[in-house]
Amino acid sequence: MIKLKNLYKTYDQAGRQVEAVKNVNIEIQKGEIFGVIGYSGAGKSSLIRCVNLLETPTSGSVVVNGVELTGLAEKPLREARRKIGMIFQHFNLLSSSTVFENVASPLRLVNAPKKEIEKKVTDLLQLVGLADKGSFYPSQLSGGQKQRVAIARALANDPEILLCDEATSALDPQTTDSILDLLLDINQKLRITIMLITHEMHVIKKICDRVAVMENGHVIEQGSVLDIFSKPQTQTTRNFIKNIFDINLPESLQLKFQRERANGELIRVSFIGEDTTEPFFAELATRFPLRPNILFGNITQIKDTTFGSLILKLNGEAAVIREAIEYLQAEGLTVEVLHDVD
Ligand SMILES: Nc1ncnc2c1ncn2[C@@H]1O[C@H](COP(=O)(O)OP(=O)(O)O)[C@@H](O)[C@H]1O
Ligand SMILES: [Mg+2]
Repeated sequence: MIKLKNLYKTYDQAGRQVEAVKNVNIEIQKGEIFGVIGYSGAGKSSLIRCVNLLETPTSGSVVVNGVELTGLAEKPLREARRKIGMIFQHFNLLSSSTVFENVASPLRLVNAPKKEIEKKVTDLLQLVGLADKGSFYPSQLSGGQKQRVAIARALANDPEILLCDEATSALDPQTTDSILDLLLDINQKLRITIMLITHEMHVIKKICDRVAVMENGHVIEQGSVLDIFSKPQTQTTRNFIKNIFDINLPESLQLKFQRERANGELIRVSFIGEDTTEPFFAELATRFPLRPNILFGNITQIKDTTFGSLILKLNGEAAVIREAIEYLQAEGLTVEVLHDVD
């Protein structure tokens, strides 16, 4: 649906060249929710703005729905853009227009008939949960409600793609969740492909299927959210994950674990999916004379899959421990022997 190839974006800042996007390659499938995460200044906004050519890439290609956008003349580009909606951190609503008029504005631009506008805007306000707010002005709405108006407006031209630039970053955690639920709902009901950028791992974990991690203009890793959570390859990614899902031992417990490790082995077992948790632990206890003990752990939901990580103490002979680890690996679990407890 979206194919970015060897994409570069360089700005000229008063004679100084700033390479905001460097050789990015991303492919986003139809119907997918794809997240890009990175710290401030990583180049995320520059990247997403290249997708609808709000920024012209310095080089590389942007193919949306089979069409190379960088080569298009003004008129076909305008038409292609109509199929790409966008929402922003600060909503960008017209403050002097009502909610109804804000949502209607893209339809007025294409001279849609009045009746059609009436129906479309009413349907969209219903969809985003603001059916009774059409005559309100943006200043009379909460942040979450403003973002709902912006989402309705972005959907006015029936886009195939919705781009979200830090759409929840100005919102409190509860409102963030309600907006993410709405985006998920739109993705599923309308089959709209969503590309979003964020600096919050929570956003990625809750609704994204795949994710790319950006740093200094580069994509430093990408893959399914589950893979990135279970096998992060870079320190930056680990730091993002740590904010919401710490798989490491809390400092207060490290001393205790140092002592525990003296007679036995500490292992970290990571698992994906509901079925794996209980049986593996019960089986471990019955099959091997090890008296396994759960010392620390975390279980969370990644979109609609369970992901967990447990630190176990295995008490027993080295050969039996080895056998037990092989058994767990054969069951599809990821097992690490912890030599350093940090
Ligand atoms: N319009 C612009 N003109 C000049 N430099 C820019 C412009 N937009 C972004 N930059 C620079 O590009 C880099 C990446 O910025 P940005 O894409 O906004 O990152 P992010 O969204 O990840 O915070 C920064 O160094 C920023 O200063
Ligand atoms: Mg940004």
